[in-house]
Amino acid sequence: MLKKIIFPGTFNPFTIGHLDVAKRAAGLFDRLIIAVTEETSKPGVLPARDRAALIGKCVGELPNVEVKTFNGLLVEFCKKENARLVVRGIRSFNDFQYENTMLFVNKKLAPEIETLYMMASQEYGDVSGSAVRDLIRLKADISAFVPPEIKDDLLRLYER
Ligand code: PNS
Repeated sequence: MLKKIIFPGTFNPFTIGHLDVAKRAAGLFDRLIIAVTEETSKPGVLPARDRAALIGKCVGELPNVEVKTFNGLLVEFCKKENARLVVRGIRSFNDFQYENTMLFVNKKLAPEIETLYMMASQEYGDVSGSAVRDLIRLKADISAFVPPEIKDDLLRLYER
């Protein structure tokens, strides 16, 4: 049986830390689907298809990785994709607490779906989408935080 894993997120924007998790998870499973949520209450989020297109530019060379958008519940998306595994990257104890809350909700909704946590690589422990957005707003260099393929796109799309 092919092992498929879903890597969900808002990816606002996709960072070098997300890319690291995607590559490492893609190396462990047959197929990885990066699932970009369409539904978000957070302000200043780009449309899901734009966030997905940016991710596509970063993972185009990875043959077993696909990028899709989804609306509504993550567990329903997993069922539609016939996937029972979800991966989430964590950098800190705070992330762990945030993730556990979602994990327990998802477990109640669909006990058959397992969530695996992947520790961020040490060098990316300080990388976050919110830091990238702040740096863009403050006109600072984002090179150390985002994949080079999308740096210029991010400056154009997030600069206000
Ligand atoms: O990158 P993020 O913002 O931490 O990702 C959060 C995400 C998209 C994984 C989470 O909000 C989610 O799964 N949203 C879909 C709605 C859902 O399934 N909610 C129930 C679990 S709390």
